[in-house]
Amino acid sequence: MPKFAHGEWPRRAARVLRAWPSRLREAGTLGPVKLLNLDHVAIAVEDLDAAIDGYRSRYRVEPLHREVVEEQGVEEAMIAVGGSFVQLLQPLSPETPVGRFLSKSGEGLHHIAFAVASIEAALEHLAADGARLIDAEPRVGGRGARIAFVHPGDLSGTLIELVELGDE
Ligand code: CO
Repeated sequence: MPKFAHGEWPRRAARVLRAWPSRLREAGTLGPVKLLNLDHVAIAVEDLDAAIDGYRSRYRVEPLHREVVEEQGVEEAMIAVGGSFVQLLQPLSPETPVGRFLSKSGEGLHHIAFAVASIEAALEHLAADGARLIDAEPRVGGRGARIAFVHPGDLSGTLIELVELGDE
């Protein structure tokens, strides 16, 4: 499986942003949180290999990246769709957040993730705005990105992840 060189992710994001009409770009970046892109849509799965095979046979796509993220208790695969990704998540054990999600709700949509320019600025704005944060401080997620989660009870029942993709 091809691996991304460090630095590839921000370049991809920059290409996507350049391709956007300027009004859309401004609408997405003018606020204090600066949402740059829908980085990924995450789907909880029981069996990562089976899920990858399903996407491969149905949509003829391959994951660009796959890794175990111990801190999140998952193995994840990233499938590129335009400038965004489908993130397939298999829990490392039933006693992880995604494991508990699966036993409660079964396979399906788990969270959506927005790319932000600065995770500190985003968290500062959200905290000041009274958002129900899961992470008050950023932590490290897949791809070495700095991430933070916002509670699904905060807005429309959706678990939201903020992702700041670094230069390396
Ligand atoms: Co995610």
